[in-house]
Amino acid sequence: MPTEAAPRLTALHPVIGARMDGIALGPDMAQAQVAAIRAAMDRYAVLVFPGQDHLDDTAQLGFGRLFGTVEETPSLVDQARRRLPDNQINDISNLGADGRILAADDRRRMFNLGNLLWHSDSSFKPIPASYSMLHARVIPPEGGETEFADMRAAWDALPAAMQARLRDLVCDHSLIYSRAQLGFSEFTAEERERCAPVPQRLVRRHPGSGRLSLYLSSHIGRIQGWQVPEALALLRDLTEHATGPQFVYRHHWSVGDLVVWDNRCTMHRGRPYADRLYPRDLRRVTLMDLAPTLEQAA
Ligand SMILES: [Fe+2]
Repeated sequence: MPTEAAPRLTALHPVIGARMDGIALGPDMAQAQVAAIRAAMDRYAVLVFPGQDHLDDTAQLGFGRLFGTVEETPSLVDQARRRLPDNQINDISNLGADGRILAADDRRRMFNLGNLLWHSDSSFKPIPASYSMLHARVIPPEGGETEFADMRAAWDALPAAMQARLRDLVCDHSLIYSRAQLGFSEFTAEERERCAPVPQRLVRRHPGSGRLSLYLSSHIGRIQGWQVPEALALLRDLTEHATGPQFVYRHHWSVGDLVVWDNRCTMHRGRPYADRLYPRDLRRVTLMDLAPTLEQAA
């Protein structure tokens, strides 16, 4: 009886990211394959699966459900003008509901530019994201890469005195804070209400590896109990430290790539491209973590 060849794993960077070849992702994968992906995720935090052109929205969702509960992600601005009808498929594109490239001054484009800042997905939600799964359907001829930074390695590299200072801090996260960094502040009263800040630990333990990790994100706007300028200055330093090249893998997309990352121990950011000239259509399925970070073991 023929046996399936084991998938091949190749590291992409000394501390973060690996590529898995020889595997076809989908809703009907064997438990052994799901377990192999989990184990590799715990080690590398980012996995690249090339050649997954067969995935459509339904199959991508079904694959996601093998690993946890899929987050509902209605658009935070202009939900009524949404392109993709399914709220569990996050539209990472520069396209409007009519399929055309968004106008330069479109509010959704302004809002989406926040993805260029280092962040962890859904850190502004009471129960934030665990895995994000991003699939490339259409990519521009150049630019539009995604960078990933390993927050466990960044934590390990901090001096012990700084680790002790950070260990028990709690930060407030909101989309309002990240968008304010780019000067976007035109939220409606209703959007502001939905974006009320939520508390998260600054240092958390990554369950799969047992390692401690920084939990940074551009969505952070406050450290509880701290003066705001002192907090923001520290966060800026930490983010600079945590996103040095020794901790960062940069992914150059090909159509059909599916990239999975663990938001509990990484940050990521998009890189610019000519978004007024070329369409870029990536779709994300996001999994919920199990509990708010304040309720998780420190
Ligand atoms: Fe993101």
